[in-house]
Amino acid sequence: MPALVLLGAQWGDEGKGKATDLLGGSVDYVVRYQGGNNAGHTVVVGDQKYALHLLPSGILSPGCTPVIGNGVVVDPSVLFSELSGLNERGVDTSKLLISGNAHIITPYNVTVDKVTERFLGKRKIGTTGRGIGPTYADKINRMGIRVQDLYDESILTQKVEAALDVKNQMLTKFYNRRAIATDQVVGELLGYAEKLRPYVADTVLVLNQALEQDKVVLFEGGQGTLLDIDHGTYPFVTSSNPTAGGACTGAGVGPTKISRVIGILKAYTTRVGAGPFPTELFDEDGEALRRIGGERGVTTGRDRRCGWFDAVIARYATRVNGLTDFFLTKLDVLTGWEQIPVCVAYEIDGKRVEELPYSQTDFHHAKPVYEMLPGWSEDITGAKSFSDLPKNAQAYVKALEEMSGAPISAIGVGPGRDETIQINSFL
Ligand code: GDP
Ligand code: IMO
Ligand code: MG
Repeated sequence: MPALVLLGAQWGDEGKGKATDLLGGSVDYVVRYQGGNNAGHTVVVGDQKYALHLLPSGILSPGCTPVIGNGVVVDPSVLFSELSGLNERGVDTSKLLISGNAHIITPYNVTVDKVTERFLGKRKIGTTGRGIGPTYADKINRMGIRVQDLYDESILTQKVEAALDVKNQMLTKFYNRRAIATDQVVGELLGYAEKLRPYVADTVLVLNQALEQDKVVLFEGGQGTLLDIDHGTYPFVTSSNPTAGGACTGAGVGPTKISRVIGILKAYTTRVGAGPFPTELFDEDGEALRRIGGERGVTTGRDRRCGWFDAVIARYATRVNGLTDFFLTKLDVLTGWEQIPVCVAYEIDGKRVEELPYSQTDFHHAKPVYEMLPGWSEDITGAKSFSDLPKNAQAYVKALEEMSGAPISAIGVGPGRDETIQINSFL
């Protein structure tokens, strides 16, 4: 059994952490391939709750090697505080591997993220303020600092100097901020070098050798399909590729190795930050989804915007990721509604549209066309098999599956590891 990709099918926060953790016990490696500590992945094990940002959720499974791939951006201060937080709770983190080619989120990248957002005012993206966009921009501009640069002081100094030459002009002349000193940044980064060294590895080689030995590798996406820089609701996106192809570039593994692509899909929809969201609710139903679903950001603590399930988006996620399966999460949150609206198409300028429009303008004008599905009132949190679900909950799942274009192979009925109905095995 070779490689699996597990990714968000909507705008993030679908429950990827829980799904990854669930598989963690049966896989050998869990790999983050993009994003950074903009992610917030919640894992609930018994009465313990963990919030992971940069680390792969597999870190909580003792037999599993967690890997931070070359496509990830790493803030070393966040990395060490997350590691020590887990160590204090008795989690062994010594197996972690970090690619030497991963880019570092420097303090000036965080500053640039924050000042840019402030400057944009009402036009802001609503980023997490963690320096993600500016770090990827430096990478693409060939001005980035990589993990391996921490082991050559002369190269590191030259690179930081080059990056700051440009940024200090902008910070002082345009944003009216103080300049950032090269030696201060270099000193801080060098301070991490020896602590990082035991984790740094040629992760491309490690993962490909593992696959040759028939080990199971799981790629854990951050964010979600609609936040993808290429396939999402640009410009209201993150600056990386959470979609399935990102796993290949972000970890150095060929597409022929990937056998399964699992889309994590919430039974309704949420979004954090700015940007279009056709099924967003501004009424008491939206409030109720937020309250019952506990829809508050794990990273920034912002309330998540909430809305009904959008099948147009789910179909799109199936297509751009080549999904083989869905893991439908948070079905339990929908208990208690007499009828549940599901968006089956959009109306754009008076016309019915079945697929996600490629034009940003059209998507901004998209109005949801709803079909009403009958709800259920029975508590489903204890359900262990599909047949334990009330008939209407079964019909809701089947309808979503039909509309979304890939089989629903697992259903989440609560945040805990065991609050899952497994229909088809992922392995
Ligand atoms: P991620 O970013 O995709 O890992 O998702 P988050 O952790 O940001 O948000 C998902 C939230 O839903 C977390 O609080 C999870 O504990 C919770 N969760 C996951 N699956 C389920 C489920 O099936 N039912 C309920 N009620 N909560 C769930
Ligand atoms: P997980 O992995 C939800 C959103 C931000 C903002 C946009 C760009 O927990 O699903 P960035 O800081 O990445 O430049 O912000 O992307 N965003 C997320 N929304 N879940 C996430 O991660 C997110 N990571 C970034 O809110 O709209
Ligand atoms: Mg999250």
